[in-house]
Order: sequence, then structure tokens, then C-alpha cells
Amino acid sequence: MFELRDYDWKVSAAGRVNLIGEHVDYCGGKVMPAALSLRNTVFVRANGTDRINLAFSDLPLTASLDCGDLMRYRGEKYVSYPAGSALIWQQAGHKLVGCDLYEDCTVPFGSGLSSSAAIEVSTMAALAAAAGERIDPVEIALLSQKAEREFTGVNCGIMDQYASACGRKNHAMLLDCKTLACEYVPIAFGDYALVIANCNKPHNLAESKYNERRAETESALAELRKKAEISCLADLSPAQFERICGVLDGKVRDRARHVVEECARVEAAADAMKRGDMPAFGALLSASHASLRDLYEVTGRELDALASAAQRHPACAGSRMTGAGFGGCTVSLVLRDGVEDFKAYVSAAYEKATGYRAAFYDCTVDDGITVEKI
Ligand code: GLA
Repeated sequence: MFELRDYDWKVSAAGRVNLIGEHVDYCGGKVMPAALSLRNTVFVRANGTDRINLAFSDLPLTASLDCGDLMRYRGEKYVSYPAGSALIWQQAGHKLVGCDLYEDCTVPFGSGLSSSAAIEVSTMAALAAAAGERIDPVEIALLSQKAEREFTGVNCGIMDQYASACGRKNHAMLLDCKTLACEYVPIAFGDYALVIANCNKPHNLAESKYNERRAETESALAELRKKAEISCLADLSPAQFERICGVLDGKVRDRARHVVEECARVEAAADAMKRGDMPAFGALLSASHASLRDLYEVTGRELDALASAAQRHPACAGSRMTGAGFGGCTVSLVLRDGVEDFKAYVSAAYEKATGYRAAFYDCTVDDGITVEKI
């Protein structure tokens, strides 16, 4: 084990919270994530061998990866993220040099705040730094998404990796997932603060349910294309959707309606943020949660209890689950003066309803990839 000062570069990438625009990135919609000060930091130095030596600050685990045979680490807990990132980086034609990597993650695992994206993005950026290559955050986001899909089997959209790589301090990102055009919107919550709370229910089956939702939206699109010239569900306004949704049945119609209406909520939320209208922004957060609960069915008992306790508190303008769902975190907009009382109230109400203890995270909106020479 080296001292940290013996490494050459300190490279980091962000976890993210999604403010609104849930389960629409893979349907060509706009999303509004923000990068967080909860991050994965990688200390790296080239070691002149053909191996990547890995160590972690918070895991009693080291590994020495063979750069010529990275596929074999697929599925190995923790190691598979950096290994997958290195493999996809190499397959994209980048120079992969042997190096020592020390990974320090402050994004809680399994929280829905994209610890995996933070690890993938920062690892690729660290490999680029070790090889003396220029860092292109958008390319790294796209390759990290590929790593997530191919190595962990989650058929994810681009939101998490893009936010992790390209986020900006004190700005939300209004990211069009169809074109990757990104508008940075200054965070202006006025008297309000964001509060992120983890329901602390272990995720289970999240990957398979995620992939199932994705397949449902794809089948909805195939049916709707018989009625309208669209390339993705996000191309439809709610009014257009109502005219043609008769071709869909049952659950598939609900899933598609969520996507179309959520896309409209993102536009409205961006306007509310620009006007500084926090009650309107908050109401959209709560409406998003209701749709994810009733139409998209990705919340579950714990996230519903946590969001509804939050929504009942007088200082709270709105609250919703964030990320893929099936566990993980909520994000709430709360009057600054009321935050301590809000946390106490929500903790007690949530524990009473579910038996789980919520956790709250103190964090700020931060940059995406950062690179420092040591
Ligand atoms: C996960 C995926 C994202 C996105 C969200 C839901 O975080 O990685 O691509 O689909 O779920 O909005």
C-alpha cells in the first residue's frame, strides 16, 4: 500500500440525484439531475506492468487484474465495476496502461445515488490520466453507460453517467437524452433546501424489474408508431398520447402514460425553477412520485411511506423517489428553517410505518469529473 501522495493523479466523479424526469431517459425524454459532493475518488499511478492493482478505502479487498483478460472479472462483486470500465475503455481503442488504483467512494452503495456510475466514470477518467490521454467527459459518460449495460446487465439510459461526468457545481442539468444537448440551470431554491433521504430497504430484483419496464416502454412505442410518426415516447405530448393510446392495453398504457406526462412535468419544473417558483416545483415532485407509484409501479411500500411522510410536513413543498426506484432515496424540497424539524418528523413517521430507519445525507451540488495532479 502506498501513501496517497505517492500516486500521480487524484481523479473523481460524482454521484447524482435526479430532481425530476424519472424513467424517461431511455425513452428519449429530458431529465433534470444534479451531480453531488458524494463522489468516487480514484488515486492512480502507472506501474509499468500489464496489471491493474486495485485497492478500496472502505472494503477489505485488493485485486490484481490482468489487462489482457479483463472479461473474467465480470460478476465479481465490487471488482467488476473497475474491471468493466477498463475493458470497455480498452475496447474503445484507448491505451490501457498497467496502474495502481485506490478507490474511495462516499456515495452510499445501493442508495439510488449512482455509486456505480461514479465508480465507472472516475475509473475511466483515471485510466486516461495514467496514460496521458485527454479526458472527454461526454465520451466517458457514453462508455461508462456501455460498461454498466455489458458488465452488470442493467439496460440503463444515459442520465447517471452523464450527470456523474458532466455535472456542474450549483447547477442542475436539463439533459435531453435524445440529442445529449444539456442546459445548465442554476440551482435557485430560494428559502428551500434539498433533502435526500435513504429508505434503507435493501434493493432486490431491481435489475430485472428495471429491464422489464424498459421492455414495456419499447413495446408501447412499437404499437404507437402504427398511429403516429414518432421515434421515441418523448416525442408525444400528453394530448397526442390521449388521442392514440387506445392501441395500448392495461399496464403498457399506464407505463407509456407515465413517460409522456413525466416529460411534460420536466418542462414545467424547469420553468418553475427559472421563475423561482418553489411551491410549483415541489408540487411537480409530488406528482412525479404519484405517477411512479400508480402508473409506473417502481416505488414500493418503503419509498411510498418515506415520500408521504415528507409530503405531510408543513415545511415541505414536495417529495419524490429518485433514481430507478424499488428502494433507495427520496428527494424533498424543504424550507431551510424547517429542515431539522422535517428530518425528525419524517424519521419517526417512517420508522413507525415500516420498521426501517431512514438515513439523511448532507451534500451539495458539485462538479462532474475533476482531475488533480498530485
Ligand atoms: C437508473 C438508470 C437511469 C435511469 C433511472 C430512472 O438510475 O441508470 O438510466 O433510467 O434509473 O430514471
